[in-house]
Amino acid sequence: MNKIAVFASGGGSNAQKIIEYFNNSQLASIALIVSNKPEAGVVTIAEKNTIPTLIIEKEKFLKGSGYTDDLKKEGIDLIVLAGFLWKIPALLIKTFPGKIINIHPALLPKYGGKGMYGFHVHQAVIDNKEKESGITIHYVDEQYDHGQPIFQATCPVFENDTAFSLAKRVQQLEHEHYPKVIEEILFNNSK
Ligand code: GRF
Repeated sequence: MNKIAVFASGGGSNAQKIIEYFNNSQLASIALIVSNKPEAGVVTIAEKNTIPTLIIEKEKFLKGSGYTDDLKKEGIDLIVLAGFLWKIPALLIKTFPGKIINIHPALLPKYGGKGMYGFHVHQAVIDNKEKESGITIHYVDEQYDHGQPIFQATCPVFENDTAFSLAKRVQQLEHEHYPKVIEEILFNNSK
């Protein structure tokens, strides 16, 4: 059984979908929710689903051990970032090589990087009159939104879209695809 740790800073709608998807799975379980915000929606989701939560502190995460010991102790096989806003420290990447993935609400390499999150992303896509947006699931390296892409899915951008209406369309893609892509990665890793 693979153990997944989901890292999230916000509402946690992706975390919720991932939890639901792997409920009763033979392949994986969500062993830990990691958050930098004790009041984040994702923490409530974890409590409701009786999943242990680890609240992390910036100094220890970025400059200290990166909580690698806690994650190793839990036997975590895959780290899934779902709206996690801190950069992942080098030590954590080294400890979990090829085992950390992220989802970004745009078609990388466009509209990624520092500050490109949430509505900033969708507003930039609209301002640039893009005809298409979507999601990118990628491995995590030491730069924001930069690691090797694993999967992309697209959706149209309409002329009358707002950042809000586009965000909703992109979020549907996230909910549909992220759990399945995670499953596929774990399945391939176990071959
Ligand atoms: C998602 O749009 C994801 O792509 C981005 O952060 C958002 C998280 O949303 N990295 P939620 O907290 O899962 O609802």
